[in-house]
Amino acid sequence: MASACLAALAVQCLGETTAERDTRMKWWREARFGLFVHWGLYSGAAGEWDGRKYGGGVEWIQHYAGVPTAEYGRRMIPRFKPNPDFARQWAALAKEAGMKYLVFTSKHHEGFALHNSAVTDFDAYDVTGRDLVKEISEAVRAQGLKLGYYHSVIDWHHPDFPVRGTGLPHPLQKAEGDHDQGRVLKRYQDYLHAQALELVSHYGQVDVLWWDYSKPQAEGETWRANELMAMVRKHQPNIIMNNRLYNTPDLEKDPIGRLKNFDTSKGDFTTPEQSIPSTGIPGVDWETCMTMNNTWGYSAHDNNWKPVSTLIRNLVDIASKGGNYLLNVGPKVDGSVPEESVQRLKEIGAWMRKNGESIYATSANPIGAVEWGRITVKGDQLFLHFFKAPTSGVVTVPAQAGRQYAARFLAEKSAAALPVKIANGQVEIEVGTELPDAIDTVVVLTAK
Ligand code: GLC
Repeated sequence: MASACLAALAVQCLGETTAERDTRMKWWREARFGLFVHWGLYSGAAGEWDGRKYGGGVEWIQHYAGVPTAEYGRRMIPRFKPNPDFARQWAALAKEAGMKYLVFTSKHHEGFALHNSAVTDFDAYDVTGRDLVKEISEAVRAQGLKLGYYHSVIDWHHPDFPVRGTGLPHPLQKAEGDHDQGRVLKRYQDYLHAQALELVSHYGQVDVLWWDYSKPQAEGETWRANELMAMVRKHQPNIIMNNRLYNTPDLEKDPIGRLKNFDTSKGDFTTPEQSIPSTGIPGVDWETCMTMNNTWGYSAHDNNWKPVSTLIRNLVDIASKGGNYLLNVGPKVDGSVPEESVQRLKEIGAWMRKNGESIYATSANPIGAVEWGRITVKGDQLFLHFFKAPTSGVVTVPAQAGRQYAARFLAEKSAAALPVKIANGQVEIEVGTELPDAIDTVVVLTAK
């Protein structure tokens, strides 16, 4: 444990001081909102295999249906025909939604790599003649967004990836016979490292590496994680990595352990999946990733779309707890984003253009829970997010001695100031009982 870098202590870690780490994390902490993209061969199955429809995350369809990799490739590769402009469309959409970064699946569990890899022919270049990691990376940067690669350490294509005994899924687990015979983990590790090296050395600056995922029996040195992370950092000194090379303590369910258990040598941030930690994870960098329906990869029959009000309020809720929101889309096999997702992202974007100031570079609610919504803060500005109007039309927040306050609706720059008075150490703001934005009306309270 000599190398442990506990967030609670201001120790030097990975040759980096706390101040240097803060500088490296700055853009990510300010961004608050990113696009997650799950796209690969599985997108062509669209949630259905041999006439059977699957639910849940259908990027797992190969595993759910128990399909050997040769058959999977033979049936899925002919469908994989990305349209010429797909990468530009993703990046433009993320930008329009008010997102600051985009993380996409360079390789998901199926093992199909989107880049031109020298160590396999199970990659996009070999089947389409296009290096899709290059296309996506360039498109993302062209929009001024930060760029992230989601890379799966699970690999259902590689002949040396363990089938049983790791606690991790594999499509052949239920098949008769001993499919682990002849598999040599070291050869898979070398392959994983070789592809990661290609990703961090062939495409310019990479801002995030989003590893996925580990279990108690397969974590850390199962992937030669120390060496892997050190190699990545050597090529990308400013990169930010999540901690899924390790089986990490569940910080969401462990309020006491939070700060003291978070070891930054195992990753810069932690990744609650499909959930928002009820009181945030103070002192720890975290990012909630979430689907818009029930699946990460495209499904033609999953219509359980979250309303845009939920998505906006999730973003606000997360920001009010000091985290980031990585919201997912699962493009169709041609790379086009489902209309339901496009529509939602555009509506979030319209809200963000008016209210983004109350999200970007803000910090967690410094006051405590309020019954009418959420609170974020930035310098002398307190952003009051009303999910509903207060019954009395008036809300109070603690006043700082000797300061004057002014309040207005954030989205309406020319709106008249809202009546404010100070009484009993509280600022009383009269917002009214009818608020202009039914999803989230933001009132900015400025202290002078
Ligand atoms: C899980 C799933 C995966 C998805 C990821 C996103 O680990 O295996 O399909 O990519 O979560 O967080």
